[in-house]
Amino acid sequence: MLNLNKRGARMQTTFNLLAGSGVLFITLLTSHLSHAHGGAVRASYVLTEKQKLERLQIPVLYHDPETGLAVTYGTDQITTRLSADSHLGGSCAGYQALEEGADPLAILRETQQVFRLHDRLARLPMLPRPIETDPEIEAAISQVSEAHLRSSVEWLMSYGTRFNKGSTPNRHVDDLKTKLQQMTAGSKLKTAINVISHRSTKQNSLHLRVEGSERPNEIVVLGAHLDSISGGGWGGGGGSAPGADDNASGSSNLIEALRILLTQNKAPARTLDFFWYAGEESGLLGSGEIAQDYKAKGADVVGVLQLDMTLFPGEGELVIGNVTDYTNAWLRDYFTRINDAYLHARIVEDRCGYACSDHASWHRQGYAAFVPFESTTKTMNPDIHTSRDVISNRSSFTHMAAFSKIALIFAMDFGNSTQRPPNAL
Ligand code: BES
Ligand code: ZN
Repeated sequence: MLNLNKRGARMQTTFNLLAGSGVLFITLLTSHLSHAHGGAVRASYVLTEKQKLERLQIPVLYHDPETGLAVTYGTDQITTRLSADSHLGGSCAGYQALEEGADPLAILRETQQVFRLHDRLARLPMLPRPIETDPEIEAAISQVSEAHLRSSVEWLMSYGTRFNKGSTPNRHVDDLKTKLQQMTAGSKLKTAINVISHRSTKQNSLHLRVEGSERPNEIVVLGAHLDSISGGGWGGGGGSAPGADDNASGSSNLIEALRILLTQNKAPARTLDFFWYAGEESGLLGSGEIAQDYKAKGADVVGVLQLDMTLFPGEGELVIGNVTDYTNAWLRDYFTRINDAYLHARIVEDRCGYACSDHASWHRQGYAAFVPFESTTKTMNPDIHTSRDVISNRSSFTHMAAFSKIALIFAMDFGNSTQRPPNAL
């Protein structure tokens, strides 16, 4: 029996794991380690068979090539999956939980001692911790309403055009401001609404800030362009431009996410900056100035979400594009992890090929962005920038609803996180 009782453990327990050729009997500290007879246990890390992790596609953090034992994260999702698998296989303990609150590095060191693995522990690259499903976030995203999204898109289409060089470039901007004022009126969260005027266009951007409750200097940006365009050429962009998909959809996604966020009792730890940008269609005008201004002020923008075109499921409902250029790898990966925990959509990576939307403005200033998109660029809505960009039988509000959920999860999970992209570009 090994004695690991360095920190005054009260009890010891013996368990076995089928490992490699034989059965390994090990004594572990119950102050750090707890038995898992199939039930999900809250734990920082768990110990199990490497083969099992690979079969279930669970990340392997450490493993011992000789015994076939491995360590992975002890998230609810992982322990539940391990337990379910053990029940199927008929074995008793599917894994060993390493309890929360203990120092993970010390535990890993002890785990190594348990297995006498000092010299042969294979260290694999550290994978990001999977995101645990939070019931509060689940409750919030369940409130996303397709009916609200539809009426919001219809309302924005009703302006005929939202072109930045039209005769009334700010009518819809002023009306959205009034709407935001009404929305924030009854909220417990500290908010501020700002109309941002620009040097490069007469059109204004709208900004709504939800002040962070713990780390207000860390800023999470959620943005969409509110303007629309039709044609170019002879029309000069000024024809009928309902812009349902491009981009009443992304703009409405943010309005709906904000509506739900404002009903929460407490603001996220980080500050949330919602933007409805001006003049994107004329060259990323609003976002260009805003991102430049934030950079000049030295603002600590930890992550940027851009929503532009979310209504047309070109690859099928709940197949979502993950734009790979002018975006940040860590946030693209973060998007796949929130998808695993909450959305269960199919994510397909795709390049825009150029600075196709406002995320490029933030990227240019060195900030990290990600862009969930309605489809691949190949199968995206062919009717944008025309008078035919309206709600049609090919539009899907179920598909579109997923993007409000992404915005809410980003606000409530990343907004409460201490994590940040390690490299912005
Ligand atoms: N929504 C479009 C294009 C788009 C495609 C955005 C794929 C995100 C992913 C956007 O509003 C647009 O039309 N952008 C312009 C570029 C801009 C710099 C004038 C374009 O694509 O021509
Ligand atoms: Zn657009």
